[in-house]
Amino acid sequence: MRIAMIGTGYVGLVSGACFSEFGVEVVCVDKDESKIERLLRGEIPIYEPGLDKLVTSNAEAGRLSFTTDLKEAVKGADAVFIAVGTPTRRGGGHADLSYVYAAAREIAEAMDGYTVVVTKSTVPVGTGREVERVIRETRPDAEFDVVSNPEFLREGSAINDFMRPDRVVIGAETDRAREVMRTLYRPLFLIETPILFTSLETSELTKYAANTFLAAKITFINEMADLCEKVGADVHDVAKGIGLDGRIGKKFLHPGPGYGGSCFPKDTLALVQTARDSGAPLRIIETVVDINAKRKRQMADRIVEFCGGSMQGKTVAILGLTFKPNTDDMRDSPSLDIVPALIDAGATVRAYDPEGMDEAKKHLDGVVYCSGAYEAMDGADALVILTEWNEFRSLNLTRVKSLLKEPAMVDLRNIYDPKQMADQGFRYQCVGRPLRKAD
Ligand code: UDX
Repeated sequence: MRIAMIGTGYVGLVSGACFSEFGVEVVCVDKDESKIERLLRGEIPIYEPGLDKLVTSNAEAGRLSFTTDLKEAVKGADAVFIAVGTPTRRGGGHADLSYVYAAAREIAEAMDGYTVVVTKSTVPVGTGREVERVIRETRPDAEFDVVSNPEFLREGSAINDFMRPDRVVIGAETDRAREVMRTLYRPLFLIETPILFTSLETSELTKYAANTFLAAKITFINEMADLCEKVGADVHDVAKGIGLDGRIGKKFLHPGPGYGGSCFPKDTLALVQTARDSGAPLRIIETVVDINAKRKRQMADRIVEFCGGSMQGKTVAILGLTFKPNTDDMRDSPSLDIVPALIDAGATVRAYDPEGMDEAKKHLDGVVYCSGAYEAMDGADALVILTEWNEFRSLNLTRVKSLLKEPAMVDLRNIYDPKQMADQGFRYQCVGRPLRKAD
């Protein structure tokens, strides 16, 4: 089996490396020459645990290669995966598909013999059908099938998610295409992973339905956390109490500063647009989008209030800038709303993130970037935890106390225990859990 992976972004690179680990011969293609040069030198452009090893070992074994030459990669490939970016288009929530269609055209020109063209990027319902049309228009004689095969990878655990997924969804409408996909995913058949074959449209919608459902689940628990604060209940116990009901499930019920990342914000917006355009508006998801956007701004207000209502002359230490741990990704991270709001309110912000500093510097101005957690909190009026990196879970609280002007912490990820913090003499604020006064 030989495949070409068009686009070496997050999805393309992880999927390409994982397919090569399955024993498939993979050629990863990107227009960006410097990126390909770096990959050829074994440099991985993103931070994803385990990815560097996987890329290096498969490249050394000759199963994984990188090129800017799309034509050469597509020629003779059994399947070509489109894994290019689909950013949100300006002036609305629609996904910008120009890169997808441009790739489809180039693939069509280069194909020889029967080829399965797979959309791996998250694309709106109907895109596969349009890719089909574009290819047929470019090469009326071509022998091909278009397949939709969405990824459900989480940043930070993408390799495990690929190798041991809950399920694989494949929108393939001919036996020939289904057979190619079955062969590619053979190792997953062996571990009895459910593989769902559907139509193109169903597969495309399934991806959006999954992400918007999860975004709604998080938003539900975030609102429940706010209610817990008002009535004196503990949202962690509520989450456990409902999550043990198999119909609900216990995952994605952790409250926080609002969801971010490369998928949920973009996909919720895109599905809202698709639904409106189709005359079947998804009012629940519209509300989810609205609540989540407001929540990130409310988190800044919460910090200001915690600091006594004014940030003039105050210094805040921020731990964690990425949208989640184990990634350097800053896309739609709550920090992008919270940090500027604190600076606008007059605060000095000292920040540290284990992997996200380079990315953060591109997006957040006016921040004092520090080289460690303790350096960030030195002389600060309050400490704010924005991302739940492991190294922030076990801070030496005695040292924290000695560095801060007063022991005060806003923990927007609930990684500390309110009782323990009170016992340690901290003024402590978290999300949706009853507080105890410091002695
Ligand atoms: C998500 C989907 O999980 C994945 O299947 C899809 O392919 C891509 O989008 P990812 O964005 O990498 O993955 O991260 P995820 O772990 O899902 O977290 C997304 C956001 O939700 C983060 O901002 C995270 O902090 C937040 N979140 C997640 C919560 O606030 N609470 C939770 O309980 C879970």
